[in-house]
Amino acid sequence: MRTVLDLGVSPPANSLLDRPDEPQNCFPLVLEHCPRCANLQLRDCLDATELYGNYLYVTPDSRVLQEHYEQLHQYLTARGYLAPHGFVLEVGSNVGLLLQYLQRKGFKVLGIDAAANICRMARDAGVNTICEFLGVTSARAIRDTYGMPDLLIARHCLAHNADPHAMIAAAAELLDKSAHLVIENAYALNTVENNEFDQIYHEHMFYYSVRSMQTLLASHGMHLVDVFLTPVHGGSIVFIAKRKSPDDHIAPEVESLAVREDQALTATAFERFAANAAGIRRSLRTLITELTSRGHDIYTYGATAKGNTLLNYVGLTREDIRYCVDSTTIKQGKYLPQSRIEIISEESAYARAPDYFLLTAWNYKEEIIAKVRQAGNRRSRFILPIPSVHIV
Ligand code: TMP
Repeated sequence: MRTVLDLGVSPPANSLLDRPDEPQNCFPLVLEHCPRCANLQLRDCLDATELYGNYLYVTPDSRVLQEHYEQLHQYLTARGYLAPHGFVLEVGSNVGLLLQYLQRKGFKVLGIDAAANICRMARDAGVNTICEFLGVTSARAIRDTYGMPDLLIARHCLAHNADPHAMIAAAAELLDKSAHLVIENAYALNTVENNEFDQIYHEHMFYYSVRSMQTLLASHGMHLVDVFLTPVHGGSIVFIAKRKSPDDHIAPEVESLAVREDQALTATAFERFAANAAGIRRSLRTLITELTSRGHDIYTYGATAKGNTLLNYVGLTREDIRYCVDSTTIKQGKYLPQSRIEIISEESAYARAPDYFLLTAWNYKEEIIAKVRQAGNRRSRFILPIPSVHIV
């Protein structure tokens, strides 16, 4: 294993605090590259209870994500991976926003998610959701009760599993020869090329590429038949896989992207990535110190997991940043881990607008800036940390 980036120690990024002085556990956050399977991955994985005991990530009801659901639906149906009225099972379905969208399009849907509080919210919204981790045993139970899905989709959750083989083995149990498995994940190539070191946090244990996904699937008799890239979450990849069968058509994008990775994910690129992360840390620290010493008020926007990696790596705390703004009701009134910044609602932030918002949810930048302006705030400026520190 080769160490790519050492971000020191930090608390799990979504473990928000109820009180500003609450004690918290910190764990090492070190990214490594495995030359054998071509994967980027954390050196130390935390167990699920540490990460999901009280889960507070609620998929935002965002325009960007609604457009993405439409794009997914169109791509999957146009290329014949999903037939009308088919049965879609989503693992890590959170509050069920994608499944609600697919339900409206006439699909039969079922969610499975490990966080009990989040499953309740999905059910309240009319999405049938099982509260469990997906493994071979739960896969068999689902198959016996609901039948085999035509499509199994896992958006931004495979990387959260310390044992990805368990999830792929479960998928192999659930899918017959003609069904498809869709895995969406932050894309390693974007993470490295766009200096997105803030994508590294304890929940993100793996940073998949076409090459590493091919290796993972191959050990379960599955393979990739297609891939496409999407801008969500700072650059993600959608892998389309199925059980291997000799007459499968493989889209040419699979190999062309894999070749691009061979050229781009090199030792030199990893060194540049680490150097750029250190550069962002220096420039952001300098900028924030300069602004606060001139009496400017700064809030962060988005109580995101990646925001916590950024704040903690740069060493920013409530001494530097007055508040964190987030639309998620269950996050409001809590405090960010380590930096101990209080989370307030968007409405309160608009009522007392700061001079600057540090956009820790930079993946929704157009949407958030438009929202702030529509609320009548023409004054606040926005600091974007990634791919390099700049103000808009
Ligand atoms: P994510 O990048 O992991 O999806 O997290 C985005 C966070 O940003 C989430 O906690 C909700 C928050 N958010 C807002 O506060 N306002 C917004 O307009 C959007 C799109 C997200």
